[in-house]
Amino acid sequence: MKKITVILFSFLMIIFLAACSENTEPKETRTANIETIVENSSEENTSQRNTTDISTAVESNTQEQQSDVNINESKILVAYFSATGTTKTLAEYIANGLNADIYEIVPKEPYTDADLNYSDDKSRSTIEMNDSAARPEISGSVENMGQYDIVFVGYPIWWGEAPRIVNTFVESYDFSGKTIIPFCTSGSSGIGSSASNLQKFSDGEWISGQRFGGGISRNEIIEWINSLGLDVTAK
Ligand SMILES: Cc1cc2nc3c(=O)[nH]c(=O)nc-3n(C[C@H](O)[C@H](O)[C@H](O)COP(=O)(O)O)c2cc1C
Repeated sequence: MKKITVILFSFLMIIFLAACSENTEPKETRTANIETIVENSSEENTSQRNTTDISTAVESNTQEQQSDVNINESKILVAYFSATGTTKTLAEYIANGLNADIYEIVPKEPYTDADLNYSDDKSRSTIEMNDSAARPEISGSVENMGQYDIVFVGYPIWWGEAPRIVNTFVESYDFSGKTIIPFCTSGSSGIGSSASNLQKFSDGEWISGQRFGGGISRNEIIEWINSLGLDVTAK
């Protein structure tokens, strides 16, 4: 009987040891494996998130580039003459709204207050405006005019016309193949024939210009640009 009990006990021990040996992996290793899986899975999520983030960034970057492309599809120059700063402000609104280059037509001999006195028959401005052949000299020049597709030309109205120095400007460059958009400021006169008279001395496709008063806002200028039907958008 004692022999049978020993055999039975040994048999039970063998079964017990066999059951224990099925999971030989230490507990710490298993815990570590679980942590790795969790980690991997969270890495996957992060990498998925990162991929999503990258796609979104590329998309929005592409959209940004597209809006830049819309603006920069045509290379634009805003050229202006301004004796007392009114036209300059508008030129800056246009250049800023279109992300365009800006060029000031600077007289070689600056206009003094006395020069601008339109009540004086002998003032420089009166003398120049009475002489349709007058071409006051400009200091400096536009670097590489050839690169521009669209050129805005801004000036104040003097005696119903563009100051003669603007004639000097338009006659100095070849505008063929370019779109020219004249704009002007005045006390009250309209643009009248000032732009069409400039056009006579120049190539390029001139579109109808616009006269503005001094109090015009940036928004109104942006609206005007966007109403011109150009393939550019002002912001
Ligand atoms: C010599 C001279 C002549 C002008 N002639 C006219 C004119 O015929 N009609 C008008 O409405 N304003 C006239 N003005 C006013 C300017 O057109 C107006 O003040 C313009 O906005 C000035 O622009 P600016 O500050 O860019 O020089 C004249 C101004 C000057 C100095």
